[in-house]
Amino acid sequence: MQNLENKDEVKVHKLTINGGKTKLGEAENIQVEIFAGQVISIVGPTGSGKSRLLADIECLAQEDTPTKRQILIDGEILDDEARFNLEGKLVAQLSQNMNFIMDITVEDF
Ligand SMILES: Nc1ncnc2c1ncn2[C@@H]1O[C@H](COP(=O)(O)OP(=O)(O)O)[C@@H](O)[C@H]1O
Ligand SMILES: [Mg+2]
Repeated sequence: MQNLENKDEVKVHKLTINGGKTKLGEAENIQVEIFAGQVISIVGPTGSGKSRLLADIECLAQEDTPTKRQILIDGEILDDEARFNLEGKLVAQLSQNMNFIMDITVEDF
């Protein structure tokens, strides 16, 4: 842990998502920039692609996922070494837990 804390060469200031294709195959025509320290909420119905977007970021997609999106770190395209280097793994993700206890109505919940 101390090693990780002392390691300050991996600093990310900006993440860029270059749009690819929607689920319907249409061009997304969008570029989204997210800056360090920002808190972002992704909302949408089940199946709309929230998890896929997170997965694209997690694997630092390079137009090689079903969405054909590309992720840039600080404006740079990552080479495979940087992308797959587990030591410098850049993304943490908490998985979702769907084990709700269904003994109340949605409205009451
Ligand atoms: N842009 C996209 N292009 C192709 N498939 C997509 C796209 N976005 C989502 N999908 C696929 O649609 C399905 C539902 O997406 P998912 O991310 O699980 O939705 P959510 O997390 O919002 O419920 C998954 O199989 C996912 O891979
Ligand atoms: Mg999901």
